Amino acid sequence: MTTATIPIQTGLPKEYMGLSASEWQARIAQAKATLGQDLLILGHHYQRDEVIQFADLTGDSFKLARLAAQNTTAKYIVFCGVHFMAETADILTGPEQVVVLPDLNAGCSMADMANPDQVDECWETVTDVFGGTTVPITYVNSAAVLKAFCGRHGGAVCTSSNARKILTWALAQGERVLFFPDEHLGRNTALDMGMTDKELVVYNQQTGQFEWLPGQTPQHVKVILWKGFCSVHQRFNVAQVEALRKQYPEIQVLVHPECNHDVVAAADMFGSTEYIIAQVEAAKPGTVWAIGTEVNLVHRLAKQHPEQTILSLNPIVCPCTTMSRISPEHLTWALESLCRGEVVNQIQVPSEVAEFAKLALDKMLTIA
Ligand code: 13P
Ligand code: SF4
Repeated sequence: MTTATIPIQTGLPKEYMGLSASEWQARIAQAKATLGQDLLILGHHYQRDEVIQFADLTGDSFKLARLAAQNTTAKYIVFCGVHFMAETADILTGPEQVVVLPDLNAGCSMADMANPDQVDECWETVTDVFGGTTVPITYVNSAAVLKAFCGRHGGAVCTSSNARKILTWALAQGERVLFFPDEHLGRNTALDMGMTDKELVVYNQQTGQFEWLPGQTPQHVKVILWKGFCSVHQRFNVAQVEALRKQYPEIQVLVHPECNHDVVAAADMFGSTEYIIAQVEAAKPGTVWAIGTEVNLVHRLAKQHPEQTILSLNPIVCPCTTMSRISPEHLTWALESLCRGEVVNQIQVPSEVAEFAKLALDKMLTIA
């Protein structure tokens, strides 16, 4: 499989370091006015407030992929999110549209847990051990080259807001699914669909081995789960749920499906970031929430809904450090460069990868 190299961010030009808030505020507003309709800024919900305020459109990863696919007019799409999201936008937009990621170090540690060599090795092992038809499904949190792998092998992409629909579709196409790179989204979705633990097996990409349950055989398996995880969402646990339920008996616990299954099982609801926002927006004044997802979003919801009590499920949880790489200073630099006619940090997926990755993304957009 072709490996795309992720470029590393070279230093931010000196003149952009240490800009005051009032400076970047004014300069970003000016650059946006100059670029006008040529510019579309997309912002993921985990972005910090200082950055998300400049987004023309915000969303979870599925909504942002759809918005990128629908936009045919903006010359420049500046993506305030992480690398795989910008790659997805590049694949789904026209060849003349330019996608920019203000800081190239904005990656995703979970996406980095699956690389093409590991997936090739896993695919061979799966073919040897299981035979028959396996359909590969990649969570959108993955490199474009892995989306292309799914496109080449009759599979699809999914996000946390449509994993159930995609998994249902995939199981109708073959005997089983290889789901990567998030073990937890895969398990939570499969169990929610009514599958049992025995129908799921974990593939450890470090050892190249399956982690069989006692008495489990390949005949039992419907979903093979890659052993990847999100370090932010692994910071939530059942003890936190229990402690908050004791303190606030009326509390509603709302978590992202990248959390461990025991946390999801102990919660009242789970879903994507867009789903989490929708639940809070629909709730009555006085509702008390414990939310298990990235803390920038939780704090924003708390600020936007003072009529409710909104707490982070983990009071000391840290933000997603890679999402936080997008700073107002980087955004100022990226936008002012565009105003000067200079494109910095363009995300361009090679055409031979984009062609097949688009097959897998289009499959998701059609099914979802
Ligand atoms: P959403 O699709 O819910 O926005 O999640 C993306 C993500 O990276 C969560 O960690
Ligand atoms: Fe990746 Fe986790 Fe950050 Fe989402 S929160 S972008 S999965 S590291």
